[in-house]
Amino acid sequence: MDPLVARLRSAGCVFAEDEAAALREAASSPEALEEMAVRRVAGEPLEQVLGWAEFDGLRIRVAPGVFVPRLRSTLMVRLAAERLRPENGPIAHPGPAAPPPGGSAAADRPVLRVIDLGCGTGAIGAAVAGRVPDAEVWAVDIDPAAVDCARRNLPPSRVLLGDLYEPLPAGLLARVICANAPYVPTDAIALMPPEARDHEHHVALDGGPDGLDVQRRLIAEARGRLTPGGALLVETSRAQADATAALVQAAGLTPKVHTDDEIDGTVVAGTAPR
Ligand SMILES: C[S@@+](CC[C@H](N)C(=O)[O-])C[C@H]1O[C@@H](n2cnc3c(N)ncnc32)[C@H](O)[C@@H]1O
Repeated sequence: MDPLVARLRSAGCVFAEDEAAALREAASSPEALEEMAVRRVAGEPLEQVLGWAEFDGLRIRVAPGVFVPRLRSTLMVRLAAERLRPENGPIAHPGPAAPPPGGSAAADRPVLRVIDLGCGTGAIGAAVAGRVPDAEVWAVDIDPAAVDCARRNLPPSRVLLGDLYEPLPAGLLARVICANAPYVPTDAIALMPPEARDHEHHVALDGGPDGLDVQRRLIAEARGRLTPGGALLVETSRAQADATAALVQAAGLTPKVHTDDEIDGTVVAGTAPR
């Protein structure tokens, strides 16, 4: 048997052949391959070792410690793209920060603005832009490692470091806010697979005692950041969906729970009044 495949298999890698091929393709030298193999055998996620993850048909740059985008989050990408398409309904004009000054024709063009809140690598924003090329994506993360990484996947000047909406320009409104913020209850982190628990920063996972601490804050402020008729999309778990939907309702948005069993995706959409 291929010795690399054997090493990966004995370390518990289920798709050892595929992983060995990916590592060989990514390594620039035998020494680099050995270094990557050691990291992978020690339990680091394959995507962090390779430096990229496939997400919604794109190659997204990934860095050590930064949350690896999950397949389930493509449900949010699909929903965001649907909300942004003009045939989905009239598009309200954005807030004052976006249109260029001077009253040109461009100033009258509606901006398909999206905020990717808790962006991690920026995978969700990048994938939305992949589906809706004229979308204007802004992204925020509180973790400097995530911001550095997202600046390699998105236009860097619109990737901001800070807490939730705080670093965004005042008055900036979005048609869609995508929020895959941490929602794992603190005590459940210990039960997560070691790849996540040991190699993704806890700020990316820890949602507080009931998992809803960050959601509570971002949902409460969302209405003031949405254009009329705009939508907040919050990824959550199936078990937490009713609680997330109740927070959305309490914030003055109309909630709807979307699920996709094939990818284990759950997203609560909250639509702002027109
Ligand atoms: C579950 S990860 C999701 C990352 C990315 N959205 C994705 O789906 O791949 C949550 C992200 O939210 C960020 N985060 C946590 N608390 C935050 C806060 N208060 N403000 C901004 N970002 C935050 C974390 O650093 C992490 O990158």
